[in-house]
Amino acid sequence: MLLYVHIPFCDSKCHYCSFNSFTHHHDLKRRYMSALIEQLRYELQRFAVQKQQIETLFVGGGTPSTVKIQLYEPMFALLEPYLAKDCEITFEANPNSATPSWLQGIKTLGATRISFGVQSFDAEKLRFLGRAHSPDQAIAAIQHAAEAGIEHINCDIIYNVRGDSEKLLANDLAIAQSLPIDHISAYALTIEEGTPFARGQVTSHKEFGPFVAEHIHMPWYEVSNFGHYRSRHNMGYWQLKDYIGIGAGAVGFMHNRRFYPSRDLHRYIADPLACDIEELAHQDLRTEKIFLGLRSVVGVDAKLVDSQKAALLCDEGKLLYRDGRYYNLDFFLADEIALYLL
Ligand SMILES: C[S@@+](CC[C@H](N)C(=O)[O-])C[C@H]1O[C@@H](n2cnc3c(N)ncnc32)[C@H](O)[C@@H]1O
Ligand code: SF4
Repeated sequence: MLLYVHIPFCDSKCHYCSFNSFTHHHDLKRRYMSALIEQLRYELQRFAVQKQQIETLFVGGGTPSTVKIQLYEPMFALLEPYLAKDCEITFEANPNSATPSWLQGIKTLGATRISFGVQSFDAEKLRFLGRAHSPDQAIAAIQHAAEAGIEHINCDIIYNVRGDSEKLLANDLAIAQSLPIDHISAYALTIEEGTPFARGQVTSHKEFGPFVAEHIHMPWYEVSNFGHYRSRHNMGYWQLKDYIGIGAGAVGFMHNRRFYPSRDLHRYIADPLACDIEELAHQDLRTEKIFLGLRSVVGVDAKLVDSQKAALLCDEGKLLYRDGRYYNLDFFLADEIALYLL
């Protein structure tokens, strides 16, 4: 079983971001963390989770590093018996709030992995993106995480931003790879409705995906993810495993149902058990399996797709067939291939 916990607080709002997070309401953190526990108790029963069955825990956001360690402690005390001995425990963090003592704190809670939103090491690009940290703060935070003994470190990078050039991105990727990290998530900028970036021309004219992929010297295992260590939590999503989603803006998934707790902080705190439920039809699940499988090394069960069309793509060198599954050989073509095979 996978478990996702959403922390909907940020120090500031980045210009591209539509994640469910708030820069005010910091006074609600304590009550929010109590509400999380109430929902967690309920979901552990709904998903019939037994002792040591949680294989991965991902604390994401928003910005988990805006919440003090003491406020996480009761949740971890409740979770302790349910976590597998080798549970992968990831926290997301922003360089400006991930202090050495917070990093030490998550290590003590059991963190095995940290994912930093760095986006770039270029000061001007960081300003353009609306980030609240400098390149030096990002470098220091990664070094402090390694010093705290956190085994696996990821660095998020965004590309295809206005002003990007091969020189800038090569420099970003070279700095990232000179640091003690074993994973890079490189995201093409997407323009999200309702964000400041939706109001202007902010994407680059050039597509830098292939350039970025070529300059990351780590195994490529999903369209936006490269690592010597693969995030087991994300692999679980792409394999369409069941997952519990806790918090305002989280999503849970069991068999063919999705659970959506309220995204509104006050409403969530007032009733953390209330959620909307979406039933997925057989066809929806098939579509998801094909898209997720082709975007990653997970691949697709051959029984799900038209074998003649798939054979044609194998002949063209776009897909590989092995042991009853098709594997995509160019993740950037994943969506086109999926649409063709559907
Ligand atoms: C929940 S956020 C990260 C955690 C943390 N709050 C931070 O920003 O440092 C996850 C990642 O998604 C990426 N992201 C968010 N919005 C994006 C967008 N519109 N386009 C591309 N990447 C985006 C960023 O790289 C970000 O670090
Ligand atoms: S990118 Fe991260 S820090 Fe920025 S607003 Fe989104 S969740 Fe918050």
